[in-house]
Amino acid sequence: MSGRAVRVRAPGKVNLQLAVGPVGQDGFHPLATIFQAVDLYETVTAVVRDDDQITLAVDAVPALAGSLDGVPLDQSNLAWQAALAVRDRFGVDAGVDLHILKGVPVAGGMAGGSADAAAAVVACTEAWEVGASRADLHELCSMLGSDVPFSLHGHTAVGMGRGDQLSPAMTRGEYHWVFAVRHGGLSTPAVFREFDRLAQASAVPQRPEIDPDVMRALSLGDPALLGRAMSNDLQRAALSLEPSLERTLDAMREADALGAIVSGSGPTVAGLARSRQHALAIAAHVQAVKAADATFCATGPAPGAVILEDG
Ligand code: C5P
Repeated sequence: MSGRAVRVRAPGKVNLQLAVGPVGQDGFHPLATIFQAVDLYETVTAVVRDDDQITLAVDAVPALAGSLDGVPLDQSNLAWQAALAVRDRFGVDAGVDLHILKGVPVAGGMAGGSADAAAAVVACTEAWEVGASRADLHELCSMLGSDVPFSLHGHTAVGMGRGDQLSPAMTRGEYHWVFAVRHGGLSTPAVFREFDRLAQASAVPQRPEIDPDVMRALSLGDPALLGRAMSNDLQRAALSLEPSLERTLDAMREADALGAIVSGSGPTVAGLARSRQHALAIAAHVQAVKAADATFCATGPAPGAVILEDG
């Protein structure tokens, strides 16, 4: 087993809808969300060691070079925690060398860290040959974070509870996205805290619900309808912490995006385009007016975690 290398890829995501209820006693907010995975990927390689050590190294694709500063290289990294969780669950003694190649913007609300966790769960279970079932993988992913199970499954899905209770969504067609990224992310817990602060002055529905217009747009394969229907209850909190994001949303609209929203807890802004060509044009405008540090064009839905190499 020692020296066996398994390489796994897992996608980032955008929330087409993110409805948030009032914070619960457990400190989490009930969510009703619709995720779409996009073809920006994290790639995790697990190489089995002949001792019990765990190591971690992180690189980024060239477009993300310089944005690795906030990425932890110790036990607090979700990929490391994933390896520990797999070892614990299956009583493994062996260690592993983990390598992450980041392709999803860091701390951007696109679940890059969650994709690392999902990919690491799959890579470690495979490399250590523990014989994990699909249910085992899902359970391990749920333990690691609210968005991790979705990165395992991919495509387009409804997420309830903390976002980890998934069911597939009927979708048609391809969706072309532009992501406008900031150096210096927003912390997810901080955005939820700001949501709580703002919620004191306004009514938050007790039970967040899926928007039927978003589901209809997806089942019709109608990007224009989807663009109008997209929503994110965390957007106001993200804008409150980072007011300059309003300029980025405006820049997307100036370039005729079908819709523009903050992605998840931000600060990445997602714009929906009519075509790949239109996505490139929106990205060029956002860059020209200096409304982002970097832009990425991507397409969804994309598959979940996939083993690229095993041996
Ligand atoms: O589950 P995850 O580790 O990604 O969540 C990070 C933080 O985001 C949580 O500790 C919590 O503060 C906040 N959160 C929340 N409600 C959710 C998901 C996350 O308040 N449904």
